[in-house]
Amino acid sequence: MGGANGKSGLRLWRNARLATMAEGAGLGIVEKGAVAVRDGLIVYAGAEADIPASFGQGIETVDCAGRWITPGLIDCHTHLVYAGNRANEFEMRLAGATYEEVARAGGGIVSSVKSLRAASEDELVSQALPRLDALMAEGVTTVEVKSGYGLDLDNEKKSLRAARRLAGERPVTIRATCLAAHALPPEAKGDKDAFIDLVAGTILPEVAAEKLADAVDGFCEGIAFSPEQIARVFDKAKALGLPVKLHADQLSNLHGAALAARYGALSADHLEYTDEEGAAAMAKAGAVATILPGAYYFIRETKKPPVDLFRRHGVKMAVATDSNPGTSPLTSLLLTMNMAATLFGLTVEECLAGVTREAARAVGLLDRTGTLEAGKSADLAVWDIERPAELVYRMGFNPLHARIWRGQ
Ligand code: NIG
Ligand code: FE
Repeated sequence: MGGANGKSGLRLWRNARLATMAEGAGLGIVEKGAVAVRDGLIVYAGAEADIPASFGQGIETVDCAGRWITPGLIDCHTHLVYAGNRANEFEMRLAGATYEEVARAGGGIVSSVKSLRAASEDELVSQALPRLDALMAEGVTTVEVKSGYGLDLDNEKKSLRAARRLAGERPVTIRATCLAAHALPPEAKGDKDAFIDLVAGTILPEVAAEKLADAVDGFCEGIAFSPEQIARVFDKAKALGLPVKLHADQLSNLHGAALAARYGALSADHLEYTDEEGAAAMAKAGAVATILPGAYYFIRETKKPPVDLFRRHGVKMAVATDSNPGTSPLTSLLLTMNMAATLFGLTVEECLAGVTREAARAVGLLDRTGTLEAGKSADLAVWDIERPAELVYRMGFNPLHARIWRGQ
């Protein structure tokens, strides 16, 4: 599907079936559909029969032979930049230890901190690329990437620069998120408040000044930071004009969802232990609930996120890999959808919206991507499937035919 654009600068993908994922119309199915693109933007997505006559001359056409086109997929929660792996801890857990026990025994996030600090920025980029390639091979066109294994100024900046550099290495949109408040580094010697001073007083301002992050995240949990400590991080993020997100209620209910909502968060993520008050607060604030079945599966959590509460309160749900070395070494968004459906009962429509429109909302890019609508970036995935449910149904099979990012 290469080649230069036609004389008019227009390129048309025709003879396709579309799932536009536009708001309020289910999957937004168009049976005999077409997508027209100019200068990297969608200028038309709809019925082939209704293509504006003005498009007629000199247009380069791609015949999709009845294949399906969806928006390019969006992985809205990853920790893609890290060094090494934690297969050893996986073996400890297979022998009976829990994730929290591993973390308290000096493993967990802190062991990834050691590895990341020892790695150069170039090494971080080259280790992240195979993971990014795996995501992209399944039609992913936007990836959110968090820091959070650096935990000091230089290493957080190194992580975020590595994340930003991924966008120069591959045709993909990267959103970088500063997750300095992820865990307590060893040199903090147990003093969480002093570390939060460093995050809010030094790391966030420098990261913001160098424009290294598009958002700020935190980990609100017994083994990480209290709601009061996260609130201090969020106050600073707000003052710096950065939107916030939160790892909330993953292992216990510290009312992280409600906290995130109070700060107008783009999303609250994990949410296994979120209660009705949390769901109601998120609905009111318009915060997206990011469902991360990979972590639930991998640490053999048994408490499921309250999907029914989210539905009842009208909370939008995104679905993401949480790709990270400790709780979710997962680089398949297709498999993630299958897990969200099989483990949590999400519908096909919820899964597909969760990796397109709602994922775009969760990274603050809904005005630019996430649906097939005129004016948005031409981020498309073309699939060799007969019906959209196949994208959720299969495990370990990739029916991607073509991936288009910004029209290319
Ligand atoms: O999203 N919950 C905290 N952070 C990651 C785990 C990171 C790690 O164990 O390395 C998560 O599950
Ligand atoms: Fe995470």
